[in-house]
Amino acid sequence: TASQEAEKRGWHLYLVGGAVRDLLLAEATSDTLMIKDIDLVVDGFHKSADVGAGVELAKALQQLYPAARLEIHGAFQTAALLWHKDPELDSLWVDIATARTEFYPYPAANPEVEASSIRQDLYRRDFTINAIALRLTSPRSGELLDFFGGLLDLQAKQIRVLHPNSFIEDPTRIYRGVRFAVRFGFEIEPQTEEFIRYAINSGVYDRTSQENTKTPALQTRLKTELKHILEAPYWKSALQLLDNLGALQCIHPTLKLNALLLRQLRLLELCLRRFDAEQTFIHWQMRLEALIAHLAPEYRMKVAQNLQLQDDSIVRLKNLVQSFSQVIESLPTFQRPSQVVQLLRQYDLPMLILIALQSPRYIRHQIWEYLTVWANVQPLLNGNDLKKLGYKPGPQYRQILDDVVAATLDGVIKDRTEAEEFLA
Ligand code: CTP
Repeated sequence: TASQEAEKRGWHLYLVGGAVRDLLLAEATSDTLMIKDIDLVVDGFHKSADVGAGVELAKALQQLYPAARLEIHGAFQTAALLWHKDPELDSLWVDIATARTEFYPYPAANPEVEASSIRQDLYRRDFTINAIALRLTSPRSGELLDFFGGLLDLQAKQIRVLHPNSFIEDPTRIYRGVRFAVRFGFEIEPQTEEFIRYAINSGVYDRTSQENTKTPALQTRLKTELKHILEAPYWKSALQLLDNLGALQCIHPTLKLNALLLRQLRLLELCLRRFDAEQTFIHWQMRLEALIAHLAPEYRMKVAQNLQLQDDSIVRLKNLVQSFSQVIESLPTFQRPSQVVQLLRQYDLPMLILIALQSPRYIRHQIWEYLTVWANVQPLLNGNDLKKLGYKPGPQYRQILDDVVAATLDGVIKDRTEAEEFLA
């Protein structure tokens, strides 16, 4: 329908970006493909200077598909149609952009002008494999437009940038390149790697790292990329590659994936698997928190704020120093498990994990014991039992039952009979 609407107006319409790449990859591997994000570029001139062809096309489509929500971004450049949980489509996001050179009239049939317009649009993209267009309008619909060797790079499994300045203009592309390389098992092509290293050495990360808060949009995009990476199954290999390229500096100049951090990340995974299999907490954010917690305390807040972490994460990172010292100073002085429980139960699971990551082994063991055994100990008696024993019902029941739990934890009582004797 989109191509019919475009053709009616004498415009050209293309499928671009990740969908074309994924289609070609799926074709090569005979994998089934699930596309949830479609990028279209429309190349056409609109008589009103206020409305881009993309916006008009999106409006026309929305009339035909009223279930779709229409969003218009920027003055008149791009529009999006969103089908959210449509019974047939599940959820689908269609972005419709207008090719850059739409602002002067040209005969739609002129192939040279058309080629230069879509070429220009593709040239400002990140990698050759993401800069292939599939023409959706006739004539020659179904034709691939591959000006920069994207098909060859797909075959050769290469991540190749389109121009030397790409990473300087947009440092988050370094993270995107790594993500695509690890996700598809591709190599970053040597020249591209040099451009990445050049961008990092020339201090491009200063714009993203903690020093500068004047570029929130960049920080937001960096966080989006970090999210994509840290929630993917390949997150560890991606971090490794980012580290090899020196790109973790974009988060903070001192961040290195050393043996200690790797050990902390392994322990984090173990804890998340064991204690949060239901994913009550957001695991990619916990990974990001662990990276930030690994930094020296004086850097943590700035990085957390720049990356706009959630409020609870920021509070946790802020309190970490104090909570950590409280645990590390108190635990060795305790003689009884009930004292450990009393101290540790004031912290939520993510905080306990952050503390455990930084603790020496014997403290870690106590926290582990707390999480696996001690925190789950239930009182051997209940309210009815207390009533039978002659205690008057009231708020003091909580305290009495807590005492029963403490006595159980400390091995003072073993069963109900002993509990009753204990309270008699
Ligand atoms: N793009 C770019 N530079 C960026 C972000 C995006 O050039 N910093 C271009 C790429 O051509 C990309 C397209 O915009 O293919 C769409 O971006 P996005 O949806 O973020 O990525 P996809 O390539 O679709 O990847 P994914 O499969 O991860 O969604």
